[in-house]
Order: sequence, then structure tokens, then C-alpha cells
Amino acid sequence: PADRPLRVGVIAGDGIGPELTRAAASVMETALRLHGTGIEFVHEDAGADTFRRTGRALTPGALDRIRGYDALLKGPVGDPAVRHPDGTEAGLLGGLLREGLDTYANVRPIRLLPGIRGATRHEAGEIDHVIVRENTEGLYMSRGRGVRNARAASDQLMMTREGVERVAHAAFALARRRGGAPADGVSRVTCVDKSNVLRSFGFFRDIFDEVAEAYPDVEADHMYADAAGYALVAEPSRFDVLVMENLLGDVLSDVGAGTVGGLGMCPSGNIGDTSAYFEPIHGSAPGIAGSDRANPSSQILAGALLLDHAGHTDAARSVEDAVARVLADGTVTITSSGSPDLGTRATAEAVVGALAAPEEGTG
Ligand code: NAI
Ligand code: MG
Repeated sequence: PADRPLRVGVIAGDGIGPELTRAAASVMETALRLHGTGIEFVHEDAGADTFRRTGRALTPGALDRIRGYDALLKGPVGDPAVRHPDGTEAGLLGGLLREGLDTYANVRPIRLLPGIRGATRHEAGEIDHVIVRENTEGLYMSRGRGVRNARAASDQLMMTREGVERVAHAAFALARRRGGAPADGVSRVTCVDKSNVLRSFGFFRDIFDEVAEAYPDVEADHMYADAAGYALVAEPSRFDVLVMENLLGDVLSDVGAGTVGGLGMCPSGNIGDTSAYFEPIHGSAPGIAGSDRANPSSQILAGALLLDHAGHTDAARSVEDAVARVLADGTVTITSSGSPDLGTRATAEAVVGALAAPEEGTG
């Protein structure tokens, strides 16, 4: 191997998390080995099960250790039965990791792969956009700080100039690296907001427009969030990159997932200036945990995003190609309920097999 081994922290997660991270680790290891590099996985104990055992969702020193890895692969965490006294879920890591590591851009590719039947009538290639969700402020900045009494409750939506600027820059920089929207090949960033109603969203849009001036080669586009929810379903091909506030991005990316075969097809990267971690967009799916029914594609594709971020671009491409190939040639079929017919483990094995035999099944 030419390079030193990649050092990747792993949070296996709760529910379906361990099945998924095992699947992704085997695929990542094979892809890197075929490209002449090793990989070392370091386990981090974190999540709802950790909370149940220790009273904390992360162990002491975890953030510092995570900053030291090349990147972190995170499985979904959470157990709806493990709660704080105020009713919010304990054991979730979103706030701890996103704020702790300052991973301000949550990059969520929404891509319809061959062989997949999404909830709309589109074909592979017609849906290929990326939702960039602001990840450290917006309404979720109120996490743990909202107030509630018997008659009323309130949370506060907060945006800062620095916060909007950096996520807008991330969105435009990403658009420069992509090939444009499927409909017209135009590189475009769509700012999604409710600036027609709320001051904070007007602030978001104005700063987006300022940042856009630095990217004259990328089209700056605007849409209100309700219209964007509709357009993501009715005319997804017009989108290239979308950038939006935290809660909007959380909700609209699951809408996008419905158009590409379900949550189990959708990976994400949480990216900051000094740390990054990669995970599916979905949760721990306790209803199907341990039954080999989870679609591991989201986690495997999150592994590909990790490899790409770590500079192993060819290995990353090979993983994405292998996933697309086993779907295209019918080796793996995703059922209408979102599960792979082969099962979780055999799906991962099929992807590993496609990596090792890159010519097979291409037609
Ligand atoms: P969920 O995303 O876990 O599940 C929603 C639906 O999608 C369920 O029907 C589930 O079976 C299905 N599903 C999810 N991933 C799938 C996959 N890979 N293959 C096939 N089907 C899949 O959302 P839910 O049920 O609201 O939350 C469950 C737990 O996950 C909660 O504790 C929640 O707080 C947590 N959560 C954690 C996240 C994270 O770690 N980043 C994100 C979202 C939720
Ligand atoms: Mg979500």
C-alpha cells in the first residue's frame, strides 16, 4: 500500500446501526484495499445504549478522540424508550456532534439509482441533487433551551451572519464540483426559505445573495420552502444544489428520500472546517432492528462520501458504482417497504463482490 492506512472512528449506533456499520465497513475496506490502501476502524461507544448504561450518550474525551481520526463513520442512534425527564430523547448525538465538532454543513445527496422505483415516476439520472442543510443553528439551535409550561411552549429560531455565510459558501463550492441540474446541466444553488413570512429567513436569503456574487459561474435561485417541497416531488430535475435552514433541511431531505427509493438509499456528510462525520439520513429503525431487513445502501454510500472527503476519490467512486451496478443488474431489489429482498448482509456481500469484479454485469 502506497498510503498510510486511513484511521476511521466508528459509532456503530443503536437499532439497525450495528448491522449497517458492519456492512459499510466491509465495503470500505475492500474498496480501499483494491486501491492499495489499508483502513483501521476504531470503535467509539456512543448513543442510546451508551446513555442507558452510563448516563451519557458520549464517553469522556470522545470529541477529542473523534477530532483525531481521519473521519468518523456514524450509524444511526436513538431509542424512543430512552428519554430525558422533559420528554426529549436521550442518547441522540446530533447536537453533541454537530455543535461539538462544528460540522456546519449537512450535505445530503438525493440520487435516483438505476433499478430503483421511487415514489414519483422518474427514471435514474432524472433525480440528482444535493440538499445542504445548515447544521448548527436555525430552529434546532433551541435544542434543550425551549420553554414549556402547561399552557404554552416556545422555541427560538436563530441565525447568524457567520453561520449563513459559511453554509452558503459550502453550497456554492459544491455546485462548482458537480455537473449541474439533470434538467438543463446548469450549475445552480437554490436558496430555500420562508422569507415571505419570517425575518430570520429574509436575513438568510439576503446573505445567500451576497455570497452568490462571489460565484458568477453558478446560478443563484430562490424558492419558498412550501413550493420547494412540491417541486422536489413534481420537478426534481430542476435542482442541482439546495441550501436551507436546519429544520427545513431535515424535513425536505426526507421528502427527497421518498423520490429515490426511501431513507435507506440516502447518505449524508456532516462537514466542518476541521472535522467531518458520515451517516445515513435516517434513524435507528427499531421496528426492523436485528432482522436483516435494513437497506445498508445509505450507510455504504455514507462510507463512499467519507472516502471522497478523505481524498480517496477513486475508491469512493468505485463504491458508488458497485452499489449502482448491483441495483441495475437486479442482483439487489429494494421492495416497496424499503428493504432489500436479499437481506442486509447479503446486499453488502453483493456490493463487495461487485467491487472485486468490476467488469461483471455492466452489460
Ligand atoms: P427512522 O428513520 O429510524 O425510521 C423511519 C422509517 O423508515 C421506519 O419505517 C423504518 O423502518 C424505515 N427505515 C429507516 N431506515 C431504513 C433502512 N436503512 N432500510 C429500510 N427501512 C428503513 O425514524 P424514526 O422511527 O422516527 O426514529 C427511530 C429512532 O431514530 C428514534 O430514536 C430517533 O430519534 C432516531 N433518529 C436518529 C437519527 C440519527 O442518528 N441521525 C436521525 C433520525 C432519527
Ligand atoms: Mg431527520
